[in-house]
Amino acid sequence: MASVKIKDKVFNLSIPEETIIGQVKRVAAEINRDLADSNPIFLCVLNGAFMFAGDLMKHVNIPSEISFVKLSSYSGTESTGRVKQLIGLSDTLRGRTVVIVEDIVDTGLTMLRLLDLIREHEPKEVRICSLLVKPDKLKVDLHIDYVAMEIPNEFIVGYGLDYDGQGRNLPAIYTVE
Ligand code: IMP
Repeated sequence: MASVKIKDKVFNLSIPEETIIGQVKRVAAEINRDLADSNPIFLCVLNGAFMFAGDLMKHVNIPSEISFVKLSSYSGTESTGRVKQLIGLSDTLRGRTVVIVEDIVDTGLTMLRLLDLIREHEPKEVRICSLLVKPDKLKVDLHIDYVAMEIPNEFIVGYGLDYDGQGRNLPAIYTVE
């Protein structure tokens, strides 16, 4: 499919499925190499990372576990406004090597909050694995250990990422026209 229409917008194919899978396999190989003796716990951040995590884990062949978390926003009473909370965590992270599996790091603010919330659980080490990074938008100091692909500062959908709730099921990545 060269283009898709979702609600009021047209999106054009920008990263084919084969290219994504190739990069996902490369990242899995790096993780297999680096964390072979760490028994890591992967934390897939829902909803956006579901497809990435599924494909990534098919190629991770070291002893490991996977868990699924979500960031929920609520309007706090403080002047800081919306605060994101981590929900769905049932496993203990204390002393573990944690690998955060995210769909995209844009400004990096979500990832920074996630890191704070995870560090409250006293893991031994936290690594970040993101399918996509928009380097031009990144506005915080963040070391991302594993990146499948860097993309320009444009809005995209597919392979887990949505536009207004839709398009997550697309097997490739499409950029807004
Ligand atoms: P950040 O806090 O600015 O880094 O935003 C990260 C979150 O914004 C991601 O987890 C996505 O849910 C969402 N996001 C950022 N860029 C895009 C995009 O191009 N398409 C769809 N969602 C996006």
